[in-house]
Amino acid sequence: MKLLLSSLAFISTALAQRVAITYPNLGQNIPAGSSINVQVAEGLQLSSITEVGIAVTLQHCQQNPCEDVSNDLGIVFYSGPYQNQEFTPPSAPGWPYQNFTVNVPSGFQKGPAVFSVAHAQLVGAGPEFFNEIENVTVNII
Ligand SMILES: *[C@@H]1O[C@H](CO)[C@@H](O)[C@H](O)[C@H]1NC(C)=O
Ligand SMILES: *[C@@H]1O[C@H](CO)[C@@H](O)[C@H](O)[C@H]1NC(C)=O
Repeated sequence: MKLLLSSLAFISTALAQRVAITYPNLGQNIPAGSSINVQVAEGLQLSSITEVGIAVTLQHCQQNPCEDVSNDLGIVFYSGPYQNQEFTPPSAPGWPYQNFTVNVPSGFQKGPAVFSVAHAQLVGAGPEFFNEIENVTVNII
């Protein structure tokens, strides 16, 4: 029984769908005071998943590579539903994504900074709660 329960837990964890930040690119130069799309993509659309929501944040890094900012995410640009859509033609399916247009404040500190996407979903028949933080480090100029 113990074995069965742990393998079920493994299966439902395996079905969670992580998101990926597909724009901006790693190390991209972004002028303070400009607006940019933060593009958040997710793979296969599984009916067993209910999206709870995401947040999009930006934090200046004290060092390069950036320290872990998961407890200090910085400016919250967005917090709410995640509704990705398929934008690529059926012949070349990509990951469905949602763009979040954010305005980097003109006073934002120059140098390395990290966009984080905190993501939560309910997985499987239980359902099981799944959450993650994805990130991409950019360069504020
Ligand atoms: C989403 O943002 C990317 C990057 O700016 C852009 O290339 C793409 O056209 C945008 N997609 C939509 C549907 O606006
Ligand atoms: C970005 O995510 C990776 C993988 O989860 C983590 O190891 C790293 O500390 C994160 N970076 C920042 C700046 O939070």
